[in-house]
Amino acid sequence: MDNKIFIFDTTLRDGEQVPGCKLNKKEKIELALELESLGVDILEAGFPISSPGDFEAVHEIAKLLKETTVCGLSRAVQKDIEVAAEALRPAERRRIHTGIGTSDYHIRSKFNSTREDILQRAVQCVKWARNYTDDVEFYAEDAGRTDNEYLARVVESVIAAGATTVNIPDTTGYCLPHQYGEKIAYLINNVPNIHKAVLSCHCHNDLGLATANSIAGIIAGARQIECTINGLGERAGNTSLEEVVMIIKQHGHLGFYTEINAMQLNPMSRKVSETMRMPVQPNKAIVGANAFSHSSGIHQDGFLKDTQTYEIIAPEEVGAESSKIVLTARSGRSALAYRFQKLGHQFNRNDIDILYPLFLDVADTKKEVYDEDLQILAESHKMVSI
Ligand code: KIV
Ligand code: ZN
Repeated sequence: MDNKIFIFDTTLRDGEQVPGCKLNKKEKIELALELESLGVDILEAGFPISSPGDFEAVHEIAKLLKETTVCGLSRAVQKDIEVAAEALRPAERRRIHTGIGTSDYHIRSKFNSTREDILQRAVQCVKWARNYTDDVEFYAEDAGRTDNEYLARVVESVIAAGATTVNIPDTTGYCLPHQYGEKIAYLINNVPNIHKAVLSCHCHNDLGLATANSIAGIIAGARQIECTINGLGERAGNTSLEEVVMIIKQHGHLGFYTEINAMQLNPMSRKVSETMRMPVQPNKAIVGANAFSHSSGIHQDGFLKDTQTYEIIAPEEVGAESSKIVLTARSGRSALAYRFQKLGHQFNRNDIDILYPLFLDVADTKKEVYDEDLQILAESHKMVSI
């Protein structure tokens, strides 16, 4: 089995569903072009039947992207599929993503239906989509809570009907990593025609497990991850693209790779955050403002001796600004000497011993000690020492 992990970006679809993150056509096009240059394999550009504006945006993106496959979402409804196909018509590479809920919650409460009927509808929507493209992805919504035996029957049937990718969404973010991995392994071991399709992980973050579940999914045999920049997405969000890409890179022993240009991860995160007007939490892995900041004395001392003591990724690897030594009341002497040195003050150990308690007095009154505070301390120390 090839170990390339296909990155399916859904920032412009699942990410854009976040309240307040709605994009206009121009913004969607700009982000789509950036995502293509980031190296995403498949870009879910929108849900064409949902609004004329979204149809237009998907249609324009379909005209512009050359390398990346452009994908449009639809329900298992003939009209949705026709509209998605029309929106995607100009694309160099196009994919229709269609599907239906397969858990008993969806079958009974949402559709007031039966497992047999849903199975027929699943097969039917794939057949409709295959009239327009050979690249059809089927999603079994709420697969995370779907009975594995029934799910295997659905997966086998949609592959027989022509699905080339089968998405196994943990729509409610319910699964534990080992359960999600076992679900993928179950499908690989129990669906006779599974070799004809790629299995895809689409995990939501309701319990903070979206990234862990996606990684468990690929370890078990899935070869596509659906994810978003900054982990944006419905409710608590989707799997974060930057996290899975860097996990795969850091853990090379797993044998996986992606085609994402990691050096663009931080600029891409900023671009999405600005365009969607959605701030990134400072402690967000890979792209948060504090991802490469060190503030406690013990960490700062170790980091200044050898960066790898406290950093597993070099910031330049992911296009972030260089690591920061932040001064707070928890910082130590090495960090203080380092920051004075950065400002051009070469103090010896004695000087630092004198300056350190003065620094702590300042630090106790504020959240962070800045360069201007250090300059005042340095100048007054020099005056006293003359
Ligand atoms: O979370 C989900 O199940 C989805 C599907 C529409 C793929 O977003
Ligand atoms: Zn989703």
